[in-house]
Amino acid sequence: MENNEFSVDDDLDEELNNKSNEKMDSNIDDLEKKKIDNKRIKKIDKTKKRAVIESVFDERTVFQLNKILTNGPLEKIEGIISAGKEANVYLAYDQESKEVAVKIYKIDSNTSKWMRNYIIGDPRFKKIPHNVTKIINLWASKEYKNLKRAFKADLSVPEPFYIKNNILIMEYIGFETIPAPLLKDIKNPKDKILLFNEILMFIKRLYQKAKLVHGDLSEFNILYHNQKPVIIDISQAVSIQHPKAEVYLVRDIKNIFNYFEKLGIEMPDPRKFYYDVINL
Ligand SMILES: Nc1ncnc2c1ncn2[C@@H]1O[C@H](COP(=O)(O)OP(=O)(O)O)[C@@H](O)[C@H]1O
Ligand SMILES: [Mg+2]
Repeated sequence: MENNEFSVDDDLDEELNNKSNEKMDSNIDDLEKKKIDNKRIKKIDKTKKRAVIESVFDERTVFQLNKILTNGPLEKIEGIISAGKEANVYLAYDQESKEVAVKIYKIDSNTSKWMRNYIIGDPRFKKIPHNVTKIINLWASKEYKNLKRAFKADLSVPEPFYIKNNILIMEYIGFETIPAPLLKDIKNPKDKILLFNEILMFIKRLYQKAKLVHGDLSEFNILYHNQKPVIIDISQAVSIQHPKAEVYLVRDIKNIFNYFEKLGIEMPDPRKFYYDVINL
C-alpha cells in the first residue's frame, strides 16, 4: 500500500540501477580494498578475549554476551571493528558461520543523559525510564527498530537481526575480515553525482516512507561498499513527528551538501531539496 503511495523518483531509481550495473567491471573495489588493508580489524586473541571484553563492559553485558555465545545466535567473536565512546562494534560469526556485526552499547550514566533528549518527544516511546541501564537498552532497541523500519522501506542500511538488552546484531558490511570503509575515508569516490543522488534519495525515503529523520547523517556514518552508500548509526533517528525532526533534517541535509560541495560537483538548491523531502 505504502509502496504505491510512494512514487518519488521512480525514473531516477531506474536510472541509478542501470548505471550501477554498468560500473560493475570497474577496479575501484580492488583499489578500496588495498587502501583499507591497513585497517584490517584487530583479531582478538582467544586467551585475551574474555579479558578484553570484561575490561570494557559491565558484568551484566559480559554475562549476556556469554549466553549469546553459548546458546546462540553467535558462534564466535572475531575482532573489534570500532571502539567508540558509546558503543563498540565487533565482527562476529553466527551459527551458520556467516559474518555479522555486533554493536554493544556501554552502560554509562553520562551517555544516558543526552540520550534522553532524543527519546523524549518521540511518540513511539511513551514511558521514559530513569534507570541508566534501561535507557541504554531502550536506545539500543531504538537503533534496532529504526534499522528495521528503514530496511523494510528498502533503504540501504544493514539488516538488523537480533536485539537483547544493549547488544544489537546486524548485517556485516565488508569483505571477509575487512569492514567497509567510511565515506569520509574515500579520497575520490567514483561517480560522485550518482552517489550524491543515492544519499539524497535515502534522506527522502527515510522521511517519506520510514517516517524517520536520521539526525546524525554525514560522511562519518556512511559506509562505502560495492560503490554504494550504506547508512549506519541510526540510533538517534527520530520520528518525523518529533519536535526537533525538522531541525535534524536541515542539519543532515547541510552535512551531505557540504561534503559533496567540497568534492566539486554542481550543487542543486538545498532549500528546494528540503521542501521536496517534507513535501511542501
Ligand atoms: N554493520 C556494520 N558493518 C561493518 N562495519 C560497521 C557496521 N556498523 C558499524 N560499523 C563500523 O563501526 C563504526 C562505529 O559504528 P557506529 O554505528 O557509527 O557507532 P558510533 O559512531 O556510535 O561508535 C562505524 O564507523 C563503522 O566503521
Ligand atoms: Mg558513527
